[in-house]
Amino acid sequence: MQRHAGVAIGLAATVVTVLLGSSTSGHTAIASRFTYNEHLFPIFERQCGSCHVEGGVAPMSLLTYNEAYPWTQSIREEVLGLRMPPWKAEDGFGDFVNGHVLPAHEMDMILEWSSGGYPQGPRDQTPVATPSTADWALGTPTVELTWSEPFELDAGTSETVRYFVLPTDLGGDRWVTGVDVIPGSQAVVRHVSVYIDTTGQARAADEAGPEAGFAIGGFEGERPIAVWWPGQSAVKLETVGYALPSGADIVARVLYKKTWITEGQAFTDQTRLGLHLTEDRVGTIEHMVLRSPEEPNGRELVFSHTFDRDVTLLGLLPELAIEATELQIEGVLPDGSRQPLLLIREPDPGWPTRYWFDSPRSLPPGSQIEVTATLRPGADRETVPSLFAENAPVRLLLEYTTGAGAAN
Ligand code: HEC
Repeated sequence: MQRHAGVAIGLAATVVTVLLGSSTSGHTAIASRFTYNEHLFPIFERQCGSCHVEGGVAPMSLLTYNEAYPWTQSIREEVLGLRMPPWKAEDGFGDFVNGHVLPAHEMDMILEWSSGGYPQGPRDQTPVATPSTADWALGTPTVELTWSEPFELDAGTSETVRYFVLPTDLGGDRWVTGVDVIPGSQAVVRHVSVYIDTTGQARAADEAGPEAGFAIGGFEGERPIAVWWPGQSAVKLETVGYALPSGADIVARVLYKKTWITEGQAFTDQTRLGLHLTEDRVGTIEHMVLRSPEEPNGRELVFSHTFDRDVTLLGLLPELAIEATELQIEGVLPDGSRQPLLLIREPDPGWPTRYWFDSPRSLPPGSQIEVTATLRPGADRETVPSLFAENAPVRLLLEYTTGAGAAN
């Protein structure tokens, strides 16, 4: 993100407005049919407000006119460049329960408003943002877990990953049907992924140092059961879940990241996890990782996997450690027909997202999952930390159940 450009443009816009403002009786060119108060505020609140709110993870609030209008140029660039909002799944390709796409007509309104003089609209219709409540999105959880002591993010650290081990002591086997997250420090908890560790390896890593948590992952079976960031709705399952054997540990991996606004400040975080559990035996969700080859074929990295049994596909978590312009995932059924699963333009490794199908996809034996990443010309390999301990240039975590009728 071009922060310096953003600031410069922000200031320039302020100056322009102040100049125009001094002659408002004259010729301020308002070419936008849409105003902030009437049309833009509801879009900003719904699509951007989980982060662009006072004290949020983004560098500025967009929830009042005075906070939003200095950023019009930058908003235009980010929205046109498909960098903001960070939810990436293309509408009408797969359909997912979590996250929100910026619909084309909302993008049009943002663009017209920002280039058309960004009018504020009727003053008597000044909107007020609904205060966010630190409430569990999925309702009261079965158990609540948090760090044994607050984590200190010191003033000099801009970005760091920390794993926290949260022991469970439930006296029996359980299935996890939902994971909720309430960030402790909203300004710096960029994303949280949650795991089940049955090996004790994470606990050993934690106990090796005096402070809460540890810095480098790498426990066996490091496969997230949830990935959260602000605005991602949590998913509650009915007939399937993740097996949580008696005594297993929950592990949370947190990316703490500051913006140019919060740079240089110290923060304390004690994020809370809410687990929804059931004792009833439900369909167990399995994980599988597909890896791309190291070397592209021309500008593409293509790879696939064929299932030899019935699977019901529930979710997809792609990761790219190479610059790509597009990532497409399709199911190829035994009769050769194709099912669109996920299409992402301008994938951004900074916002790892688990895409959870609205209705699970049943794939008969012999079906194939085909992944195509279109690389940017001259694309470089990047070191993008993986949420599931993989290092191929493109990797895909599949979540599924096996056997017919195992859908949620
Ligand atoms: C999930 C959180 C999130 C959502 C939702 C989100 N943003 Fe952002 N946005 C950020 C963060 C964080 C940054 C700072 C850059 C970074 O660190 O990635 C940012 C940066 C920006 C910037 C650049 C600011 C600068 O410093 O130059 C603009 C403009 C922007 N966002 C606009 C939007 C708009 C408009 C929406 C909604 C349509 C939106 N964002 C939705 C998190 C979010």
